Amino acid sequence: MEKLKSSTLVKSLAKKAINPIHVGRAARLQRHRKQLVRNQCDPQLKLYAQLMPNGFLHYGYFDDPTMCPRDMSLNSIANAQSKYAELVLDLVGDMESEILDVGCGMGGLVRLMLERHLKPVALSPDKHQISTINALYPQTPTIQAKFEDIDEQEHRGRYGTVINAESLNYLHLEDALPRVEQILKPGGRWVICDFFRMDEDGCTSGHWEHFQKSVEDAGFYFSYQRDITPHILPTLAYVHMWGEEIGLPVIDFSIEKMRGKQPGLHYLLKEALGTLLDHARNHLQIINPSDFQTRKRYMLLVAERRA
Ligand SMILES: C[S@@+](CC[C@H](N)C(=O)[O-])C[C@H]1O[C@@H](n2cnc3c(N)ncnc32)[C@H](O)[C@@H]1O
Repeated sequence: MEKLKSSTLVKSLAKKAINPIHVGRAARLQRHRKQLVRNQCDPQLKLYAQLMPNGFLHYGYFDDPTMCPRDMSLNSIANAQSKYAELVLDLVGDMESEILDVGCGMGGLVRLMLERHLKPVALSPDKHQISTINALYPQTPTIQAKFEDIDEQEHRGRYGTVINAESLNYLHLEDALPRVEQILKPGGRWVICDFFRMDEDGCTSGHWEHFQKSVEDAGFYFSYQRDITPHILPTLAYVHMWGEEIGLPVIDFSIEKMRGKQPGLHYLLKEALGTLLDHARNHLQIINPSDFQTRKRYMLLVAERRA
């Protein structure tokens, strides 16, 4: 294998840094970075899908919340994800009507619904997810759109159940609520499974107090409500353990190795690498299970229209 020459890397970095065309392009890419990530092809979700190829992109549900991360494997998470999906589908009341899976991910829930002879309709703004579902389950209707953008008239009174399995946090609540209200059949259920912030006031779908009040103001009541936080924590503990005990030490090791072998390159990239490391530490903090437990609750809910 050809040896990495620091002079080549330094030259290529310097060449771009002093060329206004490259600088302009880099600035434009930076400016539009959020749009690229959140809209039609979410690379984070794509990565999760590659790590967990069972079609699920949620935290899963562990029957035994005391499970120790060192005794777990990717298979334990896959099993927990299937259990979570079963719990969500057990709350479907109307077995005959279509079920809208909002934020369908890679189609794990669609597969399970088909196995139960239910009638799923899969919705996601993500092109990659929708084309995967079209290929795997061609009999299932799909909608590639944000939920907030669907035409209420076209879907009015069509669904016996609307499901948000760990996709509520992505929705703009004020646009989403009237749509749920309109597209449900009379007596229909909105099944939600997601986490909520408990520790701060805020006005997003992910802030519990705001969410509860908005749902009630929109004419719904919660006919079922269960806090499943302890049962999702093993997944966080497992991923956190990998990050803390393997990810961060490997990054540290690589930086130290660069300092020894490529001191010039290390000098140039020192601040950027430091920022990346801080970023990784912050991300790990978000999935720190005890931090999660103090700030958030993971709820399984059914909302129905008030009579
Ligand atoms: C964490 S994944 C959950 C996927 C799936 N429900 C599951 O349980 O495996 C979140 C899903 O919400 C989708 N999503 C993001 N923004 C959305 C929006 N505005 N409307 C509908 N779905 C959205 C994502 O593309 C993804 O499919």
